Amino acid sequence: MTVDLSTTLAGVALPMPVLTASGCAAAGRELDAFVDVSALGAVVTKSVMRAPRTGRPTPRMAETPSGMLNSIGLQGPGIDAFLEHDLPWLASRGARAVVSIAGSSVEEYADLADRLRGAPGLALIEVNISCPNVEDRGKVFACSAPAASAVVAAVAERADVPILAKLSPDVTDIVAIARAVVDAGAHGLSLINTLLGLVLDPDTLRPVLAGITGGLSGPAVRPVAPPCQGCRCWGWAASAAAPTR
Ligand SMILES: Cc1cc2nc3c(=O)[nH]c(=O)nc-3n(C[C@H](O)[C@H](O)[C@H](O)COP(=O)(O)O)c2cc1C
Repeated sequence: MTVDLSTTLAGVALPMPVLTASGCAAAGRELDAFVDVSALGAVVTKSVMRAPRTGRPTPRMAETPSGMLNSIGLQGPGIDAFLEHDLPWLASRGARAVVSIAGSSVEEYADLADRLRGAPGLALIEVNISCPNVEDRGKVFACSAPAASAVVAAVAERADVPILAKLSPDVTDIVAIARAVVDAGAHGLSLINTLLGLVLDPDTLRPVLAGITGGLSGPAVRPVAPPCQGCRCWGWAASAAAPTR
């Protein structure tokens, strides 16, 4: 028996509702050896920035009893190489790409959205707003409703596909941030990014990660992913995109 799992996300038709989480499958190539990436709902790519980045020093991973911390530091090839190599590969495999973008200023996000216009295989843009804003003393965009909505508005103005805003749980009132980004033009929300954490080596009492802090993910964060718009099913989905309209 064949079960039809097809669905839509922010108006985009997907063959099934399972998408990768950004940063967990790069741009899909490594995963394709194990899972046919074209059979997935979409591949959400590792957040790409304007310039190539080497990321943070190692160690970048620390295990915890019920999850892990990562401190990759948005290592990536930069948008030029991404558009030249990664996105065309996903398109050639017949996969739908949700391209995650990250920036350190509103202008960088806007520029990335401009660069993605008309890109092959692009289904949606996911806006990773868990980045420090260089124009506001490094305060993370996702922790400020005005900053988060400025980024989303700039991307929405330029994008030619629907956009998802990826929220951070490291805020007091996530609903206020969600409301702000939806009002700014987000077509859906991705819940949730990692939680800021620190793992200490019990022998040395020094941080395990070279970058000192990292993002906690895994089973530990599932109860934190907030119920969205009263729909409690998101409480167990650590990384899920909820269409808003
Ligand atoms: C190694 C690693 C790298 C990640 N890189 C990104 C990233 O580049 N952009 C982003 O928005 N989220 C990134 N994330 C966060 C995940 O997409 C996801 O939101 C988070 O891991 C929580 O979901 P989970 O507990 O189901 O893994 C990363 C997570 C991990 C573990």
